Amino acid sequence: MNNSILSVQSQSAEESSQADTLLYLSRTHLEELGGGHSAMYVKALEEVLVLHARQQFVQPLKPYLRMQEEGGHIADRIIAMPAYVGGDSPIAGIKWIGSKHDNPSRRGKERASGVIVLNDPDSHYPVAVIEAGLISSMRTAAVTVAAAKVLAKPGFARVTSIGCGLIAERQLQAMLEHFPCMEEIVLYDVRQEAAERLQEWLHSNFSHVQVSIVRDVEEAVRRGEVVITCTVADKPYIPYAWLSKGAFVSNISIMDLEKDVFLLADKVVVDDWDQANREKKVLHQLVQEGRFSKEQLHAELGAIIAGQKEGRTSEDEIIVLNPMGMAIEDIACARELFQQALEQGVGTRLPLYG
Ligand SMILES: NC(=O)c1ccc[n+]([C@@H]2O[C@H](COP(=O)([O-])OP(=O)(O)OC[C@H]3O[C@@H](n4cnc5c(N)ncnc54)[C@H](O)[C@@H]3O)[C@@H](O)[C@H]2O)c1
Repeated sequence: MNNSILSVQSQSAEESSQADTLLYLSRTHLEELGGGHSAMYVKALEEVLVLHARQQFVQPLKPYLRMQEEGGHIADRIIAMPAYVGGDSPIAGIKWIGSKHDNPSRRGKERASGVIVLNDPDSHYPVAVIEAGLISSMRTAAVTVAAAKVLAKPGFARVTSIGCGLIAERQLQAMLEHFPCMEEIVLYDVRQEAAERLQEWLHSNFSHVQVSIVRDVEEAVRRGEVVITCTVADKPYIPYAWLSKGAFVSNISIMDLEKDVFLLADKVVVDDWDQANREKKVLHQLVQEGRFSKEQLHAELGAIIAGQKEGRTSEDEIIVLNPMGMAIEDIACARELFQQALEQGVGTRLPLYG
C-alpha cells in the first residue's frame, strides 16, 4: 500500500507536534488549490471508475434522510454517502450532503450543502473535514465529461442543458473545458430568469460559444447532440421520440426521462447498478414492473472506461447514462484536494481533542 497521503499527513502533524489534528478545507481553500477547474476531477473520476470496474472499493447503499415522509419535495433530503476507495493510495470517508429545493429561490443559497469527512484507512481516525458543495458539483460534471469521451458522438457541436441552476453551470463549464468541438449551447429552464442568468455567465466565461435559450423543452432536447438533465423535476416528461439520432443523454437529475427512453435506447449505462436500481427512480420503477433488468443494461460506466465493455460503436446510436452519483467519486476527488492541501500547506488545522 502506498501511504503517500498519510505520510505527508504525519509529517505535518509532527511539524505542528499535534498528532490528533485534522485539516479543515473551506470552499476558499479548495479554490486556492485549483478546485474550481474540472481537469483534476475528471482525472480522479476516471481513475476511481476503473477501480469501481475492478471491484476495488466498498460503498454501502446511501440512506436518504427525509424529514417529511409524504408529499415532500423530491430534492428535500440529507444523504449520507460513505465509501472506501482502494488502489495505490487508499482512503475512506463520507459525504453528508443536504439539499433543499427552495434554497436558491427563498434563501439565495445553493440548493446543496455539506461536508466530506476523510478517514485514515489504517487507524480509521478522521483526517480532514472538507466543504462538499464544490467537490460534489464538480465531480458530477466530471462524470458527464468522462462519459461523453466514450459515449458521445465524436466531434459533437451542440449541447443542451435542461435546467439551468448550479449543476448545469458546472456541467457546461466542465464540458467546455474538455471539448473544443462544442460550438453551441441550448438552454431550457421552466424559469426563464435561470436560463438568462446561465446564458450571461457563459457569455462572460466562454465567449467563443453561441448560447441560445429556447422556450420549448421538446425543441431543446431535439437540438442536443449531447443532452444533460439538470432539473429538480419529480416526474418524467422527455419521451424517446424527442431524442435525435446519435444523441448522448447524461441524465444527471434522474427523474426527467420517460420510461420508453430506457426501453428504446440503444445502450443504457449506469454508474452502479445497485445504486441506480432504488429509491423509486424511473429505472427502479421499470425493474419493479418487470420491464427492465440488469441483463438489459449495456454496462456500468467504469467497465467502459476500464476497457472491459465497448462505449459508442456507431454514429446513430442513442445512448443514455443514468448516474445516481457515487460516494467513491466524492471521496476520490476529496482525497486529491486533501493531498494537494498537505503538500502546499493550505487549510486550517483543527484539534480533535484539545
Ligand atoms: N446524479 C448526480 O450525481 C447528481 C449530483 C448532484 C446533483 N444532482 C442533481 O442535479 C439537479 C440540479 O441541481 P441544482 O443544484 O442545479 O438545482 P437548482 O435548484 O439550483 O437548479 C435546478 C433548475 O432546474 C429548473 N427546473 C426545475 N424543474 C424543471 C423542469 N421540469 N424543466 C426544466 N427546468 C426545471 C429550476 O427552475 C432550476 O433553475 C438536482 O436534481 C440534483 O439532485 C445529481
